[in-house]
Amino acid sequence: MNQFVPRITAVGSYTPERRLTNADLERMVETDDEWIVQRTGIRERRISAPEEYTSHLCIEAVKDLVNRYGAVLDDVDLLIVSTSTPDFTFPSTASLVQAHFGIPQTLAFDLSAACAGFIYSLHTARSMLASGLHRKALVIGADALSKITDYTDRTTCILFGDGAGAVLLERDAEGAEASWLASTFGSDGTGGVHLYRTGIASSLNGVPVNAGGKLVQNGREVYKFAVQTVPKGVAELLKQAGLSSGSVDWFIPHSANLRIIESVCERTGIPLEKTLHTIEHFGNTSAATIPLALHQGIKQGLLKEGDKVLMYGFGGGFVHGGLLLKWKEPLSKR
Ligand SMILES: CC(C)(COP(=O)(O)OP(=O)(O)OC[C@H]1O[C@@H](n2cnc3c(N)ncnc32)[C@H](O)[C@@H]1OP(=O)(O)O)[C@@H](O)C(=O)NCCC(=O)NCCS
Repeated sequence: MNQFVPRITAVGSYTPERRLTNADLERMVETDDEWIVQRTGIRERRISAPEEYTSHLCIEAVKDLVNRYGAVLDDVDLLIVSTSTPDFTFPSTASLVQAHFGIPQTLAFDLSAACAGFIYSLHTARSMLASGLHRKALVIGADALSKITDYTDRTTCILFGDGAGAVLLERDAEGAEASWLASTFGSDGTGGVHLYRTGIASSLNGVPVNAGGKLVQNGREVYKFAVQTVPKGVAELLKQAGLSSGSVDWFIPHSANLRIIESVCERTGIPLEKTLHTIEHFGNTSAATIPLALHQGIKQGLLKEGDKVLMYGFGGGFVHGGLLLKWKEPLSKR
C-alpha cells in the first residue's frame, strides 16, 4: 500500500439551471422563508429538468472538468459514481457516463453511501490507485434528489436539490509526498429507518415501509446523529494526523443544514469562516455537496498548496466518513 501516491488533478461541477426558491415553496406547502432560513440556512436549490437525470448531471460535471483542465479521459481505468438516485438500478450511472465519453477500458460502478458517498468513493479510488492496480480514476458525486422528493411533505421538500461534482485522481510523480493525512469511516445500520427511500423490500429493521419511492426522513433523529457523530470523526482525523483543529485551513462538511454545520464547528473548535459549503444556494445535494463546495473554493482561489483540507460526509444508513488531506493544486489549473 502507498507505493503509488494519488493526487487530484482536475475538478468540475454542474448544477441545473432551474432555481426553486423559498418563495416558490411557500406557494407549494405551508411554510415560509423565515422558518426555512432560520432552521436550515437554505434560500434556494437547483432542480433538474423533467428528462434530466443523474447521469446527465454527471456528464455535465465531467465536461466542466475537461474544459477547465484539458483533462484526457481515454486512459481512465476506474470510474465511480456515488449516488442515491441512479437513473436505473442497472446499468449503473457510471456505465452511462463511460458510454457517453467513450472511455474504452474502465472498471465502472455506482457506490451507494447516501450523503457520505463522495467521501466513500474518493477513499475507494485513492486506495485502488495506491495499490498500483489502477492509474487514473474519475470520481463523481451526483444526485437528482428532486426526483425522489415528496413536494407535499414540508419537512423534507425544503431541504433537497440537484447537482454533481467530479474529480480526476492520478498517480503523482515518483517520490512525491503523500497528501492523504488521515481517514475515518463508520456506519450504524440501526439508524436506517430514520432516512430512507424504499427499494424492493417492504420493511426496514422490522419496521414496515411504503413510501412510494419517495425519500422519508425523521429530521430530528438525523440531526442528532450528525451533531453527535461528525465531531467525534473530526477529532479522530486530527488525532491520526497529530494536528489540532486550529491547523485545519478548510473544513468541507456535507451541506445538509447550516445549523448542523454550526453545531459541528462549535463542538470541534473549527471556525465557521473556515468552512466551505453550498447550503445557501444549492440546499442538500447529497453526494454532490462536498465536490461542489470543493470546486467553489478552488474557483474562488481559496485553496492554496499545502492547505490542510478536512472533508466529512454523513447521511442515510446511517453512514459517515472523513478524509484529511494536504492540498495539492490540481495540475494545469485554468
Ligand atoms: C428537518 C429539520 C429542519 C426540522 O427542524 P426541527 O427543528 O427538527 O423541526 P421539527 O421537525 O421538530 O418541527 C417543528 C415544527 O415545525 C413544523 N415544520 C416542519 N417543517 C416545516 C416547514 N417546512 N415550515 C414550517 N413549519 C414546519 C413542524 O410541523 C413542527 O410543528 P409543531 O411543533 O406544530 O408540531 C431538522 O430536523 C433537520 O434539519 N434535520 C436534519 C435533516 C437533514 O439534514 N437530513 C439530511 C441528512 S444527510
